[in-house]
Amino acid sequence: MTELFNPPIERRGSDSAKWTKFASNERDVIGAWVADMDLPSADEIINAIKDRLDERVFGYTVAPAEFIPLLQEQMQRKHGWRVESDWFVVQPGVVPSLFFASNCLGNSGDGVMAARPNYHYFLETAQYTDRTYQPVDCHNTDGRWEMDFQQMSETITRRTKTFLLCNPFNPVGRVFDKEELETIANLCLKNGTMICADEIHADLVLDDDKQHLPIASLDPEIEKHSITLFSAAKAFNLPGIGGLSLAIIPDPDIRAAFQQRSYGVATHPGALAYAATIAAYRDCDYWLQETITYLQSNRDYLETEIASIEGLSMNHVEATFLAWINVAESGLDNPVREFLKHGVALSAGDEMGSSDHIRLNFGCHRTTLEEILKRMKSALS
Ligand SMILES: Cc1ncc(COP(=O)(O)O)c(C=O)c1O
Repeated sequence: MTELFNPPIERRGSDSAKWTKFASNERDVIGAWVADMDLPSADEIINAIKDRLDERVFGYTVAPAEFIPLLQEQMQRKHGWRVESDWFVVQPGVVPSLFFASNCLGNSGDGVMAARPNYHYFLETAQYTDRTYQPVDCHNTDGRWEMDFQQMSETITRRTKTFLLCNPFNPVGRVFDKEELETIANLCLKNGTMICADEIHADLVLDDDKQHLPIASLDPEIEKHSITLFSAAKAFNLPGIGGLSLAIIPDPDIRAAFQQRSYGVATHPGALAYAATIAAYRDCDYWLQETITYLQSNRDYLETEIASIEGLSMNHVEATFLAWINVAESGLDNPVREFLKHGVALSAGDEMGSSDHIRLNFGCHRTTLEEILKRMKSALS
């Protein structure tokens, strides 16, 4: 096992959102909810930020010359997708881009479709952009979360202007396969629905026999009907550096409409975010591989432990560092509150569309994960 993450870094008292929100002087709480990792960044990223700091002047910054070619190289090498340089739109975050996408497609009251459960912003985008949410439920079929394509085909209409796809899928940890992506794309194309694919977890596929496929890369017609969102923030643990994500928008009219929507609202990325992202993609393949190995081991340990705890269950996590745990049989009235009382802060499933579940973040040091499980067991005993 890698030594990159030893010894563990103390997160208490660090202004970490994850560790601070539910803790107090009287109560020690381990943060295992919001989706960032406790693992330290790669030295190459830290040194790139330090080098930029050494310049000592922090005026408005444009993308360094190597930035877009590096992104093109990443997409081609990792995901087999050839992206033209002018398709990239630099943005301050993936979540704002979900809202810009919805806002620039269709009009007031039109449909925004997305799976349920889902990362909570997917459930809220319609409401905040004056659209109508059209859910597609996911079912646990033989231990695998699957979208209800029957329901999707019955409810999608020509007024469904946007399909928000989360792939890899937070919170259930799936990587959609080619057949599933083709089904989604065919239904969308048939109804003139644009696909906005949030692929922020693309570099965090944990199963060696699975591969992330950008939905836009499947076919030129799908590509034309797509907006693909990503950033280095999840895989390289940079959300605290923040402020830099990408939208890939092949269609020039949609691209212009998207840019119009974000005009004056989206802030310019900062120099440190460019430095960190470039170092991540240019120099840190080795670090990502070590991190995936570490997360695989945490995932395997967690799956074994959860299977041994009466009242809890979970499906296999194919990607991400998030586990979607069924607590319906736990006997606890309010599982999130009970686990919190025992010193673990988890995400409430009802915020993501299922009150039978909680979400646990295992992107932490193994000793932290062991302590999380110890505390959860004590809440159940
Ligand atoms: C699927 C997904 N999209 C977007 C985000 C957040 O992206 P950003 O911080 O760039 O807005 C997260 C963070 O948890 C996420 O899981």
